[in-house]
Amino acid sequence: MKLDVSGLSVRFRVPGAEVRAVTEATFQVRPGRCLALVGESGCGKSVLAHALLGLLPGNATVTGRALLSPGPGSGETEAVDLLAVPPAVLARRVRGRMVGLIPQSPATHLTPVRTARAQLAEAVRELGSSRTAGELAERFGLRPADLDRYPHELSGGMAQRVANAIALAGDPGLLLADEPTTGLDRPLVERAMDVLRELCDEGRAVLLITHDLRAAERVADDIAVMYAGRLVEIGPAEQVMERPRHPYAAGLVDAQPDRAFVPVPGLPPELTDLPGGCAFAPRCSRVADACRTVPAMEDGVACWRAGHVARA
Ligand SMILES: Nc1ncnc2c1ncn2[C@@H]1O[C@H](COP(=O)(O)OP(=O)(O)OP(=O)(O)O)[C@@H](O)[C@H]1O
Ligand code: SF4
Ligand SMILES: [Mg+2]
Repeated sequence: MKLDVSGLSVRFRVPGAEVRAVTEATFQVRPGRCLALVGESGCGKSVLAHALLGLLPGNATVTGRALLSPGPGSGETEAVDLLAVPPAVLARRVRGRMVGLIPQSPATHLTPVRTARAQLAEAVRELGSSRTAGELAERFGLRPADLDRYPHELSGGMAQRVANAIALAGDPGLLLADEPTTGLDRPLVERAMDVLRELCDEGRAVLLITHDLRAAERVADDIAVMYAGRLVEIGPAEQVMERPRHPYAAGLVDAQPDRAFVPVPGLPPELTDLPGGCAFAPRCSRVADACRTVPAMEDGVACWRAGHVARA
């Protein structure tokens, strides 16, 4: 499955204002490749993922295109614009079957009053999976006894595996993983990333949303950096981590504990009150007159002064 997103914008109507949650996002996710979408809390990552799945509330307006093209041998023939198909089609044909969601907090995503086995079996039944619940559980390293537990009896790592098994029940070609490692300790984060990599290496396209750059670096082929609803840098993971060109991307990398460990100074703007030009300008040490106009994305970076980035 291949995803081509172009010009995706999301606006929320709230009393007396408009939240510009995502603006003109353009990116691709290819089969067998993992794109990590990174950025500070509130920059629009989850809204973007929910827009792709048709899961936004009624006060949202979504524009743009998100073309999902099936790969050979998938049984599907037509490309689907996720932003244009009716909700019933998204529910019947797309969610779980073409696009799987690995949720942010697996333990709370699972229904508390039913065992892991019952929930996995239901997903298998509803999605007409070619694999049994037992086979899926085994695939993710769950023992039969684990499946008989209720969600509150599962450790964070086990709940994660159950959520992965459910997300994979319909064998979707595109996986969206929104902060799949929240609350896990480092070894479990690494295990979860390695599983995601395996799923990707089997030919699936993976969009990983995270604020954990170390996790992103472990699994991603490409990294997209988001700031105040816009993608500001996108490129091969190694390049973005080692030679970031956007001042904000450089700041995020330098903020990592294993790097300079210097936080990006200041706070992001309110999405109801974005500055007129480059939204990063109030925090940027490189700001110049040109930055009064929003920079276009060119060669994977949206900054008038890309290449002049000073590192901490
Ligand atoms: N239904 C809604 N109505 C109004 N604003 C919303 C709604 N849902 C989200 N937002 C706003 O959209 C912005 C982006 O939120 P989003 O959840 O995508 O952030 P995020 O990047 O996923 O953050 P985090 O890393 O904390 O998960 C936030 O300012 C949020 O308050
Ligand atoms: S466009 Fe200007 S303000 Fe924005 S990141 Fe680049 S140098 Fe900084
Ligand atoms: Mg989020």
